Amino acid sequence: MFSHIPPYAGDPVLSLNEEFQTDTRPSKVNLSIGVYFDDTGKLPIMRAVNKAESTRQTSIAPHPYLPMAGHAQYREVAQKVVFGADLKDRLRDRLTTIQTLGGSGALKVGADFLKHYFPQSHVWASDPTWDNHKVLFEGAGFAVNHYPYYDPQSGGVRFTEMLETLDRLPAQSIVLLHACCHNPTGVDLSGDQWAELAPIFFRRNLIAFIDMAYQGFGSGIDEDAAGVRLLAEAGVPLLVASSFSKNFSLYGERCGALSVVCASAAEAERVLGQLNAKVRANYSNPPTYGATLISRVLSDEALTAEWTDELHGMRTRMLSMRSALHARLNGKVDDSLRARYINQRGMFTYTGLNKTQVDRLKNEFAIYLVNSGRMCVAGLSESNVDYVASSIAVVAAADTNNRA
Ligand code: LMR
Repeated sequence: MFSHIPPYAGDPVLSLNEEFQTDTRPSKVNLSIGVYFDDTGKLPIMRAVNKAESTRQTSIAPHPYLPMAGHAQYREVAQKVVFGADLKDRLRDRLTTIQTLGGSGALKVGADFLKHYFPQSHVWASDPTWDNHKVLFEGAGFAVNHYPYYDPQSGGVRFTEMLETLDRLPAQSIVLLHACCHNPTGVDLSGDQWAELAPIFFRRNLIAFIDMAYQGFGSGIDEDAAGVRLLAEAGVPLLVASSFSKNFSLYGERCGALSVVCASAAEAERVLGQLNAKVRANYSNPPTYGATLISRVLSDEALTAEWTDELHGMRTRMLSMRSALHARLNGKVDDSLRARYINQRGMFTYTGLNKTQVDRLKNEFAIYLVNSGRMCVAGLSESNVDYVASSIAVVAAADTNNRA
């Protein structure tokens, strides 16, 4: 019956991460998956989460289903983190949010919803984008196209070409944007650039779908959401897929949210109903545990402050690792490529290393980067940064020699 099923080619991130787990070489370094590790290479349990967990009922509690839209308090706190308390209050009932299975779950429910009500629309994603965007939106039945984004020459954004492309799109096209910490390049739009986008969405009658998986890992919770808030404030029809999986270090609990900014409360209520329908069709309703922990932290002032503080520490550690690698590569790789380690933001740096170099790093040095040359700087530590720098120097030198 199943003999015609072809083998799965694997996922560029998750399959590589699985390969890393089975690598027995003691010097191995995981710079592939977008997961934050501390300086000892461990996945942190955040202090605020630990405290929220310890106040949990110790006796076995009942395990009812959550509503399709998820945990009510979690939905509230998610809105506050994504939109900020002030804008959330001003948007009031025009804003609707459901709990989802991570940011990916939010993208999937949003994609199914959009496909149902905008069947003719195409999706436009940045070039390049997170590989799974294409898989996910194509899986929902969309054609996925790309607008110009990253400039490999300058290491910046091809903003003029991006605007020109968006300004030619058919009405109701869906434009997928990264709120912050662009995955895979680490190159974000500036505040001014976000402001220039808004009028195009109105002029061309476009739908914005913003993916915010790394809030807090760029410049801060509020700073990283500035683009989202700007478009929401401007009244652009907007979906936001957000995630607490990473900024709460609760990856396996799949803590995401999908928010939609509508034109009226009545519209938002109907949208919420149809999002519920898509949730029901996909997984019925979301799980309780992560949502309970997060709502407990974010509805307690002291725990929220502790969480924000720890997130700041994570951000600072990644910045110091960026600087450390930048310093150690001095004279070993081209200065313009080296500058990217400190100019790019968030978990990822687009190193400019090609597939051959990435393969050599894995095969000869047990250092894992994604094939595109994307490095997750959160996998660097005081104890491996010298090794990573000297290994990059070896593969970069071989490439220069080959070209010479
Ligand atoms: C990544 O890009 O590494 C993360 O978002 C994890 C994933 O699911 O791909």
